[in-house]
Order: sequence, then structure tokens, then C-alpha cells
Amino acid sequence: MSGHNVWTHKGTFLLAAVGSAVGLGNLWRFPYLAGENGGGAFILVYALTIFAVGIPILIAETMLGRTSRQSPIMGMRHLTKTHKTSRVWESIGWLGAVSAFLILSFYSVIAGWALHYTWLMLTGELVGADAQTIGDGFNALLASPGLMTLYHTLFIAASALIVAMGIHKGIESGLRIMMPALFAILIVVLIYGVINGDVGAAAGFLFTFNLGDLSLEGWLQAMGQSFFTLSLGMGAIMAYGAYMSSEASLTRTAIAVAFVDTAVAMVAGLAIFSIVFGAGLETSQGPGLMFVTLPLAFADMPFGALVGGVFFILVLGAAISSSISLIEPVAAFLVERFDMTRPQAVTIMVVAAWAMGLLTVVSFNIWAEGTIFHTLFGRSAFDFIELLTNIFMPLGGLMIALFAGWALTQSEVMKELGTNKTWFMVWRFLVRFVGPAAVSFVFLRTIPYVEGYVIPTLGALIIVGAFALSQRMRKPT
Ligand code: PFF
Repeated sequence: MSGHNVWTHKGTFLLAAVGSAVGLGNLWRFPYLAGENGGGAFILVYALTIFAVGIPILIAETMLGRTSRQSPIMGMRHLTKTHKTSRVWESIGWLGAVSAFLILSFYSVIAGWALHYTWLMLTGELVGADAQTIGDGFNALLASPGLMTLYHTLFIAASALIVAMGIHKGIESGLRIMMPALFAILIVVLIYGVINGDVGAAAGFLFTFNLGDLSLEGWLQAMGQSFFTLSLGMGAIMAYGAYMSSEASLTRTAIAVAFVDTAVAMVAGLAIFSIVFGAGLETSQGPGLMFVTLPLAFADMPFGALVGGVFFILVLGAAISSSISLIEPVAAFLVERFDMTRPQAVTIMVVAAWAMGLLTVVSFNIWAEGTIFHTLFGRSAFDFIELLTNIFMPLGGLMIALFAGWALTQSEVMKELGTNKTWFMVWRFLVRFVGPAAVSFVFLRTIPYVEGYVIPTLGALIIVGAFALSQRMRKPT
């Protein structure tokens, strides 16, 4: 599909964007990061960023894609020319490509774990297993670089195949069934958690807000996660926006995506922590959280092997519909810029991300704590890559907000938004000031030793103002 095609149905963008947004970020990453960062405090920063910053930027990013009708890199190049702005803004596309590549590299490894669990569920191997057995099984998976590489390879190859064939085929009808089914099974797990676990403790943990619980890095992780979960700030949404029908409403679509995405994360979080508290497990056990708690519920549930098998298949579906949106922007760029065929472009991106993914594979075994990478960087390669994406995605989002807020003209935006002047003013205020200030605030706050609230906020506002003025981003009228 070239950049100039438009999806056949008005609602396809919504489905594709929900497919991109809902994925491992909601089911695996959100619960484990919330668990590691004290629960409620993390969720407060996460939720505030989604609503005050995420939704306006989601609108902005879709708008940039839809007005340029090109891949993010070429689209930004085009927009900087037509709007006579500095070429610095082209880096939005490049930064996005780097983030997509980094995320895909570890995303595929984690999705590989879901592949392993699909197998374990369907073969009934875990029926009746206790927490100890399930925990040991997960550790055995982590200890095997061979097995993890095998699953990683299978998952990334499947995603590549789908993108190479062209994104519209099959995905739309698949998503229409998968998304509601995934939600339904999550509700089943939640009901199980209410009956057999400790939903009161889970709710207390997730919804008691005390910002003091959040470490400095926790702030960055919470903000990074809100961009991650909405697939923001890295061109995925821009690439999909390029195919969006001009009639669909940007605002309504963005709110719907954020709403569905948050609902899935919250239900997953409640279900998982009910089981955690019910079984006396650790909240802060890290990336394995979902993979040791949910099988515990399935092991004990009537028809658990089947329910668990279907659940992990749906997790895989949600992960694939996200991973294809990571491949798409880079692949579309290679096609446009170097005249490659789609399969060639996809192969280049995926082989590189696959190789990079090996760093995540070894982070859990050969290069686990106490080995070279840890000594050099103070954390595992996987943690390091995650840290980079926690910085790159909000940074990309910040630049998208500034560009859309200051460089696009009022008439252009009004045409795209298709709403009244009041909403336009609100949106523009959010992307011009609120979003950039919030992102800068978290960035400045997480610089160690920069304490207190007043100075970082002022600093953020000054940086945003100076940046905006220095680029003279408004088109001369
Ligand atoms: N939003 C996806 C998730 O929550 O699993 C992950 C993701 C997909 C992030 C696409 C970024 C992206 F561009």
C-alpha cells in the first residue's frame, strides 16, 4: 500500500489505532511497571499524562499523518518545506524510526513468552500447578536463550509476513473479533480474582495515590508508559493517519482509542493484582508478573487450560496488531525513499530488529545481573533499551505537539479537526503549552538532584517558549 492510498472504510483507522494501542503494553507492561513503582502514584502520573497530554498529541500525530499522506519521515520533510520551518522538525520522523526499531526488538521477545504460554496452556501442562511450579517454569524459560530466540524469531517473522502482504488484508476483520474476545476473557479473569483473590487489596494498591511513593525514575517510567500504551510519539500513529479517511473525526477517534486502551489496562491490572494479593505473591517482581500470575488463575479455574490457551492466543493477536504498527512507518519510508518493494523494506527492518532483540534475550540469562553489560551500564540491556524508549517517545511526542501547535495554520487545523472554534482553541492550548510543559517537567524532574516543583516548571515553560520563538515556526501571513 503506498502512502497515497486511503483505507476503504471510515472506521478502519479507529480499529487499526486500537489494534496498535492495545497490546503487551496494557497486559504485560502496565501491571508490572505499576507494581514496581508503588501502584497508585504511578497510575496517577500515567493517567494524567494520557488525558492531558496523550489525547491532544494523539490528535496532533494523526493530523500530521493525514495532512501529509506520507510515511512519517517523508511526511515531516514535506511539512517542514511547505511550512517553511527549520529542518530540525524532520527529526520527528527519524526519532520515531529509531524508537520503533528499539521497541520492536524487545516487544517481539516478550510476545515470544506468550507463545510459550499458549503452548503450555493448550497442552494442559500447568493444570493444577501451584505458584512455586509456575514460577520455576517461568525462570526455566528465562534461563534458556535458545528457546527465547526461537519464539522471538517465530513472532517477528509472523509480524513481518503480515506487513509485507499489505496492512489492510485480514487485520480489520480479525481485530473486530479479537478485541472484544480479549476484553471478555479479561473480565472472566477479573471475576476469578474477585472470587478467589483479594480484589480489595488490589484496588487499594492501584488507586491509593501518594506521589511520594514514586521514585524519580518512576516518573519517567509512568510518562513513558502513557506514550508507549497509546503508541504515541514515534510515527506509528502518523503512518496510520496517512491512510485515514478525511471524513473521520480526529477528536472522537482519539478519545475512543484512549478510552479503550485505558479500560483494558485497568481491568488487566485489577485482575492481576487480585491474584497477586490473594496468593501472597510479590507486587514488584518485574517483567515476569503477568506470566506467573495469570497461569496460576488458569491452573485452578474450571476449563482453565482452554480459557488460558484462548487468552494467550488473544494476547498474541493483540501483540501482533501492535508490532505491525511498529514495522509500518519504517517500511513505508524505505518504500517511498528508496523505491524498495514492500517485502524488501520489511525484511531490512525486521532482520535488524531481530538481531537487536538478541540483546533482550541475553539480558535474562547470559548477560543477567553481575555480568559485563550490567557492570558497564548499571542495568541490563533490556532495561537500558526500555529507558531509551521512555525518553525517546515523550521527546518525539513533545516535538509533534510543538510542530502541530505552532507550525500548522489555524485554517489547516480547523479543516482537519472539523469542529468548532472553541475546541480548536482548547486543543491548541493543550499542544502548545500543557503537553510540552508536562513532558519537560517530567524530564527535568527526573534529572537526579533537581528537586522541588517551582524551578522545573518554570524551566520547562522557558525552554518551550524559547524553542518555539527561536524556530519562528508560524507561517508568515
Ligand atoms: N501500544 C503498544 C502496546 O501498548 O502494547 C506498543 C506500541 C505499539 C508502542 C506501537 C509504540 C508503537 F508505535
